[in-house]
Amino acid sequence: MPATLSTVSYIGATILFILSLGGLSNPETSRRGNWFGIVGMAIAVLATIFGRRLLGTAEVPIVTANGYAYIVGAMAVGATIGLFAARIVKMTQMPELVAIMHSLVGFAACTIGFASFIDTSAVFPTAAEHSIHIMEIYIGVLIGAVTFTGSVIAFGKLSGKIGGKPMLLPGRHLLNLAGLIVVIWFGYQFLQAGSIQAGMLPLIVMTVIALLFGVHMVMAIGGADMPVVISMLNSYSGWAAAATGFMLSNDLLIVVGALVGSSGAILSYIMCRAMNRNFISVIAGGFGTGGGAAAKPGTAPAGEVTPISAVETAELLREAKNVIIVPGYGMAVAQAQHSVYEITKLLREKGVNVRFGIHPVAGRMPGHMNVLLAEAKVPYDIVLEMDELNEDFPNTDVAMVIGANDIVNPSAQEDPTSPIAGMPVLEVWKAKTSIVMKRSMASGYAGVDNPLFYKENNRMLFGDAKKMLDEVYSALKG
Ligand code: TAP
Repeated sequence: MPATLSTVSYIGATILFILSLGGLSNPETSRRGNWFGIVGMAIAVLATIFGRRLLGTAEVPIVTANGYAYIVGAMAVGATIGLFAARIVKMTQMPELVAIMHSLVGFAACTIGFASFIDTSAVFPTAAEHSIHIMEIYIGVLIGAVTFTGSVIAFGKLSGKIGGKPMLLPGRHLLNLAGLIVVIWFGYQFLQAGSIQAGMLPLIVMTVIALLFGVHMVMAIGGADMPVVISMLNSYSGWAAAATGFMLSNDLLIVVGALVGSSGAILSYIMCRAMNRNFISVIAGGFGTGGGAAAKPGTAPAGEVTPISAVETAELLREAKNVIIVPGYGMAVAQAQHSVYEITKLLREKGVNVRFGIHPVAGRMPGHMNVLLAEAKVPYDIVLEMDELNEDFPNTDVAMVIGANDIVNPSAQEDPTSPIAGMPVLEVWKAKTSIVMKRSMASGYAGVDNPLFYKENNRMLFGDAKKMLDEVYSALKG
C-alpha cells in the first residue's frame, strides 16, 4: 500500500473514531457509534498490516512477507477469545472485563517498549531524535506497567477475588514519593546509557517499581471509589497506547490513544463529581470498605420499616398520576428490565406519567442502567438524568426504587459523618410515597445503612426484583 493511501486511511479511521465517541454519548445514536468504531478499527488494522514505515530514510513494509502468518494466527486466537468472552460475560461482570482488557493494553505497551529498545534496526539521523525515542520508551513502559498491574488488581477487586477494603501501608505517600524519585533518577541513567546492555538495568528497575506502584495504588483504593478507578485506568490505557504510538512512530495510535486517554479522564471527572469525591483523594486512596455488607450494628437508625405487598404496590401505582422509577444494581442482578418495561407500558396506556431517574453511578459501570433499559425497549425520552428530575420528586405520587440503595441514600445529605456524605442522590423520599424493592435489609456497594427504609412515607417490597415486578404486573392487569 503506498504511503499516501496509508495516511488517507489513518485520517479516515481517526474521523470514524471521533464520530464513534460522539455516537456513543447518547443511547439513540450508540448503535451507529459502535459501527463507526468497528469500521474505523477495520480500516486501521488493514492500513497498518499493509502499510509501510520509515526506516532511516527508506520506506519498508511494516509487516514482512513471512509476518502475515503470525498476524493471521494471532488475530484468529484473539478474535476467538473475544467472541467467547462477549458471549459468556454477564452485563454485571462488564467492569471486570473492561479492567482485564485495560491490563492487556498496559502489558502491550511494556513489551513493545522493551522490543523497541532492543531493536537495532531503527536508525536516528540525529542524537536528539535518539534521545527522544529513548524517553518515549521509558515513559511508555512506565505508564504501561502501572496500567497493567493496576488493572489486574482492579479486576481482582471487582470480581471479589480480592477484598474491597483499602490496603493502607504506613507511610504510603512517602513510599510513593520515594518510588517516583528513584524512577526519575533511573530515567536519567537510562538516557545517559550508551548501549543496550547499560540501559537494560535502569529500564528493568523502573519497570519493577512501576509494576509495584500499580498494585499499591489500586490496593489502597476502597471499594466505593472503584468506579472512578475503572475510568482512570481506562484513561491510563489510552495514554499507554499513545506512548506506544510515539515509540512506533504511528500517528494513528498516538491520536487514538489521546482520544481514549482524554475521554477516560473526562469520565473520571464526571464520576468524581457524581460521587462528590476529589480526584486526588481518590488516587490517595483509603475510602470505602467494600461491597454488600450487612449494615453495621449500632449504625442503624432507630425505627421500623413498613413492608408492602405486590398487590398494594399495584394499587398505589394504579391511583398515581406521576411515577418515577429509580433503577439500581439490583435490577441488573435480577434482570428485571423487561418486567419494568411491561409495567411502564401498562401504566402509560392508563395515562400515568412514568419517568426513569438515572444516577450517574447507578449499577456497576457508566451507563449501566441506560443500556439495560434500552435493551428492554424503554423509550429514551422518559429516561432522564438525576439532575433533570430531582426537583420533581415533591410532585410525584410514587417513587419506585428497583434494586437501588446508595444512590437513594438520604444520609448523603443529612449525615455529615456518613462515608457517602456529599454524594448527590436521587431524593425519592420527597415523593408522596416511595417504594423500595430489594431482597433484605442489606446495605449497598458502599456498605452504609440507608435511613430511607425507615422513613414514614417509605414502603419496603421485599423479594427478588423480577419476581416482585411480575407479581405487580399481574395485579395491575387483573
Ligand atoms: P447498590 O448501592 O450496590 O445497591 C444495590 C441493591 O440491590 C442492594 O442493596 C441489594 O439489596 C439489591 N439487590 C441485589 N440483588 C437484587 C435482586 N435480585 N433483586 C432485588 N434487589 C437486589 O446499587 P446502586 O444503588 O445502583 O448504587 C451503585 C453503587 O455502586 C454506588 O455505591 C456506586 O459508587 C457503586 N459502583 C458504581 C459503579 C458504576 S461505574 N456505576 C461501578 C462500581 C461501583 P439486597 O441484597 O437486600 O437485595
